[in-house]
Amino acid sequence: MSDLDKQPGRLRPAPENFLSEEQIREVAAGRRSFLRRSLMVAGAALAAPLAARAAEGDPAILELPEWSTTLGQPVAARPYGMPSKFESQLLRRESPGLARVGGASVSFCPLQGLFGIITPSGLHFERHHQGWHEVDPARHRLMINGSDPAFLKKPKVYTMDDLMRLPPVSRIHFIECGANTGLEWGNVAVPTVQYTHGMLSCSEFTGVPLKTLLEDCGVDYKKARYVLAEGADGSSMTRTIPMEMVENGEVFVAYGMNGEMLRPENGYPLRLVVPGVQGVSWVKWLRRIEVGDKPYATKDEAVHYIDLMPDGTHRQYTSIQEAKSVITSPSGGQTLLNQGFYNVSGVAWSGRGKIKQVDVSFDGGINWQTARIEGPVQNKALTRFNIGWKWDGKPAILQSRAIDETGYVQPTYGQLRKVRGTKSIYHNNAIQSWKVVESGEITNVQVL
Ligand code: MTE
Repeated sequence: MSDLDKQPGRLRPAPENFLSEEQIREVAAGRRSFLRRSLMVAGAALAAPLAARAAEGDPAILELPEWSTTLGQPVAARPYGMPSKFESQLLRRESPGLARVGGASVSFCPLQGLFGIITPSGLHFERHHQGWHEVDPARHRLMINGSDPAFLKKPKVYTMDDLMRLPPVSRIHFIECGANTGLEWGNVAVPTVQYTHGMLSCSEFTGVPLKTLLEDCGVDYKKARYVLAEGADGSSMTRTIPMEMVENGEVFVAYGMNGEMLRPENGYPLRLVVPGVQGVSWVKWLRRIEVGDKPYATKDEAVHYIDLMPDGTHRQYTSIQEAKSVITSPSGGQTLLNQGFYNVSGVAWSGRGKIKQVDVSFDGGINWQTARIEGPVQNKALTRFNIGWKWDGKPAILQSRAIDETGYVQPTYGQLRKVRGTKSIYHNNAIQSWKVVESGEITNVQVL
């Protein structure tokens, strides 16, 4: 058996004017002169039949646009590349009326227009409590200290140069604000996936494991069981992180995002990356890490980012983002053009590890089919799924359901509300439903 026989996908039936299967085998067997001669023959014969046989589709292909015949822009016309002007509507957007002050608001990521799993840096969602700043990296410092000398032997202050000399890691992770989908607890509140799920992004972050820094400062893991991360902006953002997350090497101080330095809105020059944990713990403009032996109960964890339960009590320190998924295309606010084939695409993620499976329903959760997952599947990262769907012009309800490697299954609104009620803001990971009507219009609905 030749190598070509083992790869039948590469052996298409030979159309006239191209090499036959037998000829291809001979080429593969090393008869190069035969290839040259045959290609010339094939090339000469190509023009006539192609012109005679009109291809199906838009005849505009035959009109040569002017730009095809003129000199294009010079290489350095844009020293920093920008998207095409025809893509200028794909923007992060602020939800009108969400906050009275722009500096304490959110701009949502346009998930409906993205492919794959990486969020372009310019479209990464933003959430600031007190606005963003252009920080001079030459003047930025990170201090590692401890509330008791027994926790840490040598407290230290690092410059950005100090940090960037240390061995780095680069890892792809999602970041999701705990308040993502928070407007939908009671009822449908917003029309598009940008606003229901757009406090979500996924990037490759580069930086130094916090473990490396703590060990450099002589941490005693037996005594120091928590770290407190503090940001340098006016919001004094402070969050407790359990030491197990640091000790296992997952938490890192990041200066890089998608191959370049962080963007100012995302914490330039330094932020904390806490994989799987809600975005608020990913402290931006990171200036201090303190080690201690108990949770710090700061304002951003004792009063904010807590879950109001049906009995009126609050849950604190529920920071891990449970498995969740959403169909991003087609989705709310879009309109199907006509009946026929559509690729249904979305993203799934879990703060507890990898996504194992994503199921999709076209009838509001009665029947489920397993979607195709685009690998490689990464730990605590967005995972893209796709599935083909033939729309018959009738009403439909599209849903996706994520299952992670722990076996956890994304809940319905009915299941989630049974435990959590309807008054929460944070940690809504219910199954999202998009309703399609005969006109092809798609809206946000909730199915219990
Ligand atoms: N860090 C500081 N210093 N100040 C902030 O306002 N916002 C937090 C977190 N880190 C915040 C911060 C919140 S609530 C979220 S969801 C994420 O940053 C958002 O990160 P992003 O703006 O890069 O998307």
